[in-house]
Amino acid sequence: MICLTLTESTLNAALARLETERAHIDSAELRADLLNRGERAGIASFPARVAAIEELADLPLLLTARRTQDGGAWADEEEHRLALLADSSQGFAYVDIEDDCWEHPRARGIREAFRGTTVRSIHDLSGVPDDLPGQIRRMAGANTVAKLAVTPGGTADLARIIDACNRTKDLRRIVLGIGDFGVPTRILSGRLGNELTFASAPGASAARGHLTPAELAERYRYRALTARTSLFAVIGNPVMHSKSPEYHNSAFARANLDACYLPILVDDVASLFALAESLPIAGFSVTIPHKQTVIAHLDVRDAAVEAVGACNTVLRREARWVGTNTDVEGFWRPLERRMVERFAHHGSGLRALIVGAGGASRAAAFALARAGVKITIANRTVARARALAVELGLPDATAVELESIGPDWLRSRGPERPLIIVQTTSVGMAGGDPLPSALVGDEIVYDMVYTPPVTPLLDRARRASCTVISGSEMFEAQARAQSELFSALVR
Ligand code: ATR
Repeated sequence: MICLTLTESTLNAALARLETERAHIDSAELRADLLNRGERAGIASFPARVAAIEELADLPLLLTARRTQDGGAWADEEEHRLALLADSSQGFAYVDIEDDCWEHPRARGIREAFRGTTVRSIHDLSGVPDDLPGQIRRMAGANTVAKLAVTPGGTADLARIIDACNRTKDLRRIVLGIGDFGVPTRILSGRLGNELTFASAPGASAARGHLTPAELAERYRYRALTARTSLFAVIGNPVMHSKSPEYHNSAFARANLDACYLPILVDDVASLFALAESLPIAGFSVTIPHKQTVIAHLDVRDAAVEAVGACNTVLRREARWVGTNTDVEGFWRPLERRMVERFAHHGSGLRALIVGAGGASRAAAFALARAGVKITIANRTVARARALAVELGLPDATAVELESIGPDWLRSRGPERPLIIVQTTSVGMAGGDPLPSALVGDEIVYDMVYTPPVTPLLDRARRASCTVISGSEMFEAQARAQSELFSALVR
């Protein structure tokens, strides 16, 4: 169940919110602590008001008055809070009572009189308590849902929460991680066996790490996730801004595949691999700053990973972690298509000029050399260009200093003239053009930079009638290549 936490200050506004969010929610939590004081008298009749609206009639409601020490806003006397819960909870499906006041005479009175399900809650806003499974066992019951909202401080803590869920499958409980490290627990809540997951309306976040009901229901298809669903992820730090979940989940949905792709904030790659095995995760994308550090954890590295020294895609195959780098395919596919169009050729025997000798250049040089393209590397620091050729095992590659290239350099090359020009430095991003030579006009000019989509070099190439390829094509192609690899792993 997706449970909307209502953060409105009036009951009328809360009711209106339920109507706008109805399509994406299965239950709702009324937060008495966030309502204006004047609204408290109306709480008891709120369930009847909800039930009177046809499309809301079957929505289970949870009543909570969260204290400040638990992340809420209830600052009044404790006696008043328990009295309010006692007087107002009867029409609700759930009422929330904190673990530390469970045995309070008033709390006991509420529990004894209440006809619905009681949520017995613990909020740890600074960490994850020891022995989570033991806590869950102590608190859960036939008519009691144990709720633990805890704060993972890293990927290892996230792994502990998921492990606790795996060990308490048969119990009624909700165990959720607060903050960015906990986001996977919110998306996978149902799959982990939790009774519900909490969500906040757009722009009204009730807790750190809350997603909106629409994100859960549509992007992550929360209601369709089962134990059979294949899981994929993007790992990085930071990672929450990543566009990859949108891209890959849409691709899975279009292909009608039972798969879900989620963001995992990772501070420690070793714990991520342990987590990926216990969840389990079938494959993941790797982004900054882990593209190098994951390599040590792989069982198999393909030639692209070895050559480029970076891994952006990890796949689980026959109980082994296999690393690849789809930047190589992403770079190659748009270029190969243009070569066939322009020269009726897949590259062998042609010459390419690669500008730059950093990480992006390695992926390009590897793909070009694999296809039999002869390579000239031009770099500001010529020693780096030479080192790259040696490391990739390209004895025929030539290295030139960028400064030594004059305006007529390309035209004066004769039969060895490069017909493919690849720009791999970040200079284009800052509005620069690192290639000092004029273009002849029959070249394919490829800029790996994708912001802006038309760099100064590409602009000049277009005006000289060259064939141009933008970095955004490479970005699309590497994502597509990754999506094909993931799709092949869906059960
Ligand atoms: P990436 O992994 O994105 O390729 P990198 O490894 O830092 O990044 O490589 C950056 C590339 O851009 C290098 O080829 C660098 O040239 P040097 O090896 O001489 O440093 C090149 N580069 C960066 N700024 C440049 C500039 N202002 N003019 C020319 N080349 C530049």
